[in-house]
Amino acid sequence: MRGFEGKDLLSASDFSREDVEKLTNLADFFCAHRMGGNFKLKSMALCVFEKSTRTYTSFDSAMKYQGGVTIGFCGTEGTSIGKGESLEDTVRVYDSYGVDCMVIRHPQPGSAARAAAVARAPVINAGDGSNEHPTQTLVDLYTIMKRKGKIDGLTVGIVGDLKHGRTVHSLSLGLAKYNTNIYLISQEELRVGEEWMQKLAGLGAKAKEVPHTDLSFICKDLDVLYMTRLQAERFEDPAERERIEKGYPRIGIPILQYFKKDMIIMHPLPRKSGPDCELSPELDATPNAAYFDQTKYSLPLRQALLAEVLGVHI
Ligand code: NCD
Repeated sequence: MRGFEGKDLLSASDFSREDVEKLTNLADFFCAHRMGGNFKLKSMALCVFEKSTRTYTSFDSAMKYQGGVTIGFCGTEGTSIGKGESLEDTVRVYDSYGVDCMVIRHPQPGSAARAAAVARAPVINAGDGSNEHPTQTLVDLYTIMKRKGKIDGLTVGIVGDLKHGRTVHSLSLGLAKYNTNIYLISQEELRVGEEWMQKLAGLGAKAKEVPHTDLSFICKDLDVLYMTRLQAERFEDPAERERIEKGYPRIGIPILQYFKKDMIIMHPLPRKSGPDCELSPELDATPNAAYFDQTKYSLPLRQALLAEVLGVHI
């Protein structure tokens, strides 16, 4: 076991199965004790350079619900970034206030590692561009364990924008630690990429790419369907984005009949609203929907992670 105390968490490669097991056990404790004083006199900087609802508020409340202090920002408006300040200098400023850990979200791949290179405090990657989002993976693995009782032996289909989706990248690394079958289901233009497939193969993962048009053939095998949105903000060419968006896979009630009855549907959220929604709101009331469980479990899981990183022994 690598452990988390005082360490950076930059990638889903940074933790082992044993680490996940320890965290999820601790998360069970925080499920039962959401409010408390475990993080009293501890402080965390939240440096969120990109839009965020869930990640920002769940880290913030995870800390505050246990009596800790958070400082920082969500969105760069009102900060000196607009004056040309670098990521490194912003990180150095918060670090100089003596925080016990830092949570970073930034649009550039590798930004969390850059922050970690200059920070004294441990840095948690809360999403670095299209690269990784390891704490979402911890939430996802915890949700799968809670809903399915296990991870080993499951077949997981990950659907959508696999090229730009950082949650997908980290989740595939996370699932590779277990005996799982991973189907990576996407349009040609949004494939996860050769480099990532080789990385997964190197880890011994049973991962297979499937064209999105074949979803109907494999859906009967899936225990988990992990849907993701088109990462529209990562496209430079609006015409290309529009073209891809037209053929983007979407799921709704009609497709449910082809799945196992106890298959669960996950989504890191946000999903798109309106007629182009990749995940129909009609699914919310079905027993298959697990995406609001992900948001529910993100709080105790992040409390468990913070307890470990901060060295708070419960
Ligand atoms: C995701 C993200 O920001 O990568 N959201 C999240 O943190 N739960 C997914 C997304 O934006 O599509």
